[in-house]
Amino acid sequence: NYTRETFLIANWKMHKTVEEGRAFARELVRRLENVSPKHQLIICPTALSLWAVGQELATSPVMLGAQNLDLGREGALTGALSGYLIREAGARWVIVGHSERRNLFGETDALIGQKVAQAFEAHLRPILCVGESLDDYRSGQTFAVITRQIEAIFPYTNSEVLKSLVVAYEPVWAIGSGEVPEPKQANEVAGLIRQILSKQISDDANTVPVLYGGSVSSNNIHQFLEQAHIDGSLVGGASLQVDEFLKMADIG
Ligand code: G3P
Repeated sequence: NYTRETFLIANWKMHKTVEEGRAFARELVRRLENVSPKHQLIICPTALSLWAVGQELATSPVMLGAQNLDLGREGALTGALSGYLIREAGARWVIVGHSERRNLFGETDALIGQKVAQAFEAHLRPILCVGESLDDYRSGQTFAVITRQIEAIFPYTNSEVLKSLVVAYEPVWAIGSGEVPEPKQANEVAGLIRQILSKQISDDANTVPVLYGGSVSSNNIHQFLEQAHIDGSLVGGASLQVDEFLKMADIG
């Protein structure tokens, strides 16, 4: 029996203006006064809002994360945002390999492996997203796809840094669709993820948190959190309202 950190992570995607983000954070901080959340809470706003939201969260236990990072430290890289700049804005976390980055922005397994390495380099903890498409799911390829996506980061990372990885299992077909896998099935994949990691970091894989993401809300989060291998959730749509976010965190 291993103790693992547990998380509720808000991925706002391309939602909320800077002012809206700031207002959310302010309200969240107010509502968390005198409460000790049972999960680690992380807000991932747009890159533009990182600084402002981070300032609001600074005195609270809620942490800040970015949704993406680019490779490199500084240089002639028009439009890019390095992990170092993200960290300077107050973030300690970064989502890497979200299916929207993979599918809409053409990020490859290899690039994602490099981004995971770059995150560690910049002293950010990466939240690595993996998940199968509907076709993969229907053709029984889930395990093969997840294995490929996880193993793709091994050439770029060493066992020391892998211990502080967080993985989010997000079946692509469950994202924003209102459809979710059977919690037992998601649990099985989460277990598989830890098994794949154990090839690289042996027993330390038992302490790597694995989250579930995809159409999670206060109505269904508990059925995932009660699974043995699932240590929290990465939430999109339902994370945009403070009330709903707190409800999912079990804070009234
Ligand atoms: O990263 C979270 C995500 O992709 C799930 O989105 O809106 O289905 O909760 P949503």
